[in-house]
Amino acid sequence: MTNINPSAPQQSRGGTQQADRNICILGLGYVGLPLGVALAQSGMTVYGVEIMESRAALIAGGTPHIVEPRLPEMLKNALEQKRFIVSTQIPENCPATVFIVTVGTPINEDQRCRLDMIKDVIHEIAKVLKGGDLVILRSTLKLGSTRNICIPILDKTGKDYDIAFCPERIIEGNAIQELYELPQIVGGSSPRAVARATKLFSNLTPNIVTVSSIETAEIIKLIDNITRDIHFAVSNEFGMLCEHLGLNSNEVFEAAQNGYKRTKIPKVGLVGGPCLSKDTYLLQDSFEGLALSPQIPKVARAINEGLPKHGADTIHRFTQKFSTFSNRPTLAVLGAAFKGQPKTGDTRSSMTGPVVEHLRRLFNFSETRGYDPMVSMQDMESLGLNKMETPEDALQDADIVVITNNFHEISNLPLGQMSHLMHRPGIIYDFWPQHRSAPGPLAKDVHYLSFGNGTNLGRTI
Ligand SMILES: NC(=O)c1ccc[n+]([C@@H]2O[C@H](COP(=O)([O-])OP(=O)(O)OC[C@H]3O[C@@H](n4cnc5c(N)ncnc54)[C@H](O)[C@@H]3O)[C@@H](O)[C@H]2O)c1
Repeated sequence: MTNINPSAPQQSRGGTQQADRNICILGLGYVGLPLGVALAQSGMTVYGVEIMESRAALIAGGTPHIVEPRLPEMLKNALEQKRFIVSTQIPENCPATVFIVTVGTPINEDQRCRLDMIKDVIHEIAKVLKGGDLVILRSTLKLGSTRNICIPILDKTGKDYDIAFCPERIIEGNAIQELYELPQIVGGSSPRAVARATKLFSNLTPNIVTVSSIETAEIIKLIDNITRDIHFAVSNEFGMLCEHLGLNSNEVFEAAQNGYKRTKIPKVGLVGGPCLSKDTYLLQDSFEGLALSPQIPKVARAINEGLPKHGADTIHRFTQKFSTFSNRPTLAVLGAAFKGQPKTGDTRSSMTGPVVEHLRRLFNFSETRGYDPMVSMQDMESLGLNKMETPEDALQDADIVVITNNFHEISNLPLGQMSHLMHRPGIIYDFWPQHRSAPGPLAKDVHYLSFGNGTNLGRTI
């Protein structure tokens, strides 16, 4: 059973405090790469370690593998100034006094936290750990992982070191700006660990929030993300209820909040991405075997994970009204990244995958296509979609069009005009209706339905 309680008085670790100017970051993904270049820009020398050779080579050549505003210029500068040194393992005699862990912490098929990446990276650090080094965990962890998994591995070195948990809370697509703006939570093994981590992150943000234990910092990260997931689930559940009653949830939410500050409800829409899709499971896993387990997060996750099926079933039911609806339809999906705003090309845990999967169970498609200018052909194909270069190519002769993210190029498409390209009878189903004004007059026999809006479904109370 995992101990998630902080052990009583915390002992100071590590040698004499020093100015930490050489930093080693392990894992140059969506979190590690922006952090690395931002620290390099603040004047530190950053040793970026990325185990994936192709990724490391790309980064070392000055090309980020992720889409983040300002990142390409900052990476180029950092490389030119030799403040950002990229390798596939910790360089020999690495002068870093701080090791920051930013590897992924995905869940496995049983929805349990995968700990192998964290364990591996901590073993790598242990091999080179020097007395007085500071280790910072920044990946999102199952509660108690710092104390129960990382510290025992590092303790075996016999070295004196500091350790802190400083969660990353940036939003993908606005990482650099948020690194400079967001408050940084810092929880450490000792006052000195907290002081060193505080000093380090003060180079980026003026707002440091120190907390009393590593576990407090760990749970804050999970609570932040899970609360967001719950908010979306509340909205999506009300959306579904409104739809069932033949009402328009957009109208309901807008009117409910009009001048009335006590109701705060986000818009309906698909909820995906690498963080929200897993953090509830990290929390659940943390409480495995304990007397208490979280309830609301589980229900919220189920609601958000249920949206793809709900949309697919709605589309299927609607098309059955038409005896002439194609029995080998063409599907066009607009949006493949897990979100459209801020824009990203990240398809990890994108709900587009489950949407296509559910539709495939209901329709015998002749073709499944996708349009999302942010997403590579390879990633589009892994979602089971042929990548189209233009939205017109995607809609041409399509029978079913599904809008799965709110990327502005997609939200601003003149659907009315474009519906003339479609095969009839046709259906456009929109998971992100709030970002567009009504699609305008559609081609005859093309129908527009949107999630959370029952006004076209013919249902009434
Ligand atoms: N993506 C986000 O917006 C975000 C925001 C806040 C927190 N987080 C959390 O931060 C962590 C990292 O997320 P991410 O999105 O950057 O993941 P990612 O998959 O984009 O990046 C992790 C990188 O670590 C590399 N890696 C794995 N093992 C390694 C090792 N032993 N040595 C060196 N490199 C190694 C991987 O190849 C990968 O490139 C996760 O725990 C995530 O939950 C992510």
